[in-house]
Amino acid sequence: MKKKSGKSKFQYSLPEKADGVEWQKMYSAIWKRMQEIVFDLKPKLILELGTNVGHSTRIFLEAMMQCPRPGHIITVDIKGPKWQEWQMKKYEGHFTAVESDSLSLAFDDREIDILYIDSLHTYEHVLKELKLYVQKVKKGGKVLLHDVSKPDDGVEAIEQIPRIESNNSESKQINKAINEFLKNKNYRYEVVLGHSGLGVIHVD
Ligand SMILES: C[S@@+](CC[C@H](N)C(=O)[O-])C[C@H]1O[C@@H](n2cnc3c(N)ncnc32)[C@H](O)[C@@H]1O
Repeated sequence: MKKKSGKSKFQYSLPEKADGVEWQKMYSAIWKRMQEIVFDLKPKLILELGTNVGHSTRIFLEAMMQCPRPGHIITVDIKGPKWQEWQMKKYEGHFTAVESDSLSLAFDDREIDILYIDSLHTYEHVLKELKLYVQKVKKGGKVLLHDVSKPDDGVEAIEQIPRIESNNSESKQINKAINEFLKNKNYRYEVVLGHSGLGVIHVD
């Protein structure tokens, strides 16, 4: 079959349906937003807290590799990455996986373009991550948080599609940490509702 010309802006995918769940539908809104942000910012450095099997790492890398000068992602997990080596082969030179507690990472003075928070989903932990790393995000950069839910008020929900309530108590803790962090700050905050939701803090 002939390949379609032109680059798709949404490259990475899961099976359309698995275990009775329409994964693409659930995830696509937030993955699309994550990749849009990469296309807009053309980041030199993404710091990701919470690697696991690397779904989000690859979402970012797929978009980053389409940028004129693909940047680098540092991804951190207390248990190290759980991906298969072959899955990461095509991104060689553009990612570094670090096995560390996200709160005790030896991180130098480099500026972060995109910070992605998806590690331990407790109020205390997320708030500490925000306090530690948002100050290293450059002006114009973004902080993305996975597994947020729709906040009660004051926030624009830009997309709403059917979603799974995966673990609402965790989402509430993350929301609480974000609310606490955003107090007395002028950052804009948006939520994309898909599977578990994506919070976006605009570091303007
Ligand atoms: C929800 S998963 C991350 C999913 C990943 N972003 C993806 O898309 O595949 C959360 C990960 O956070 C890690 N984690 C838990 N506590 C942590 C900590 N204190 N520091 C760093 N990573 C932690 C867990 O080992 C787990 O792999």
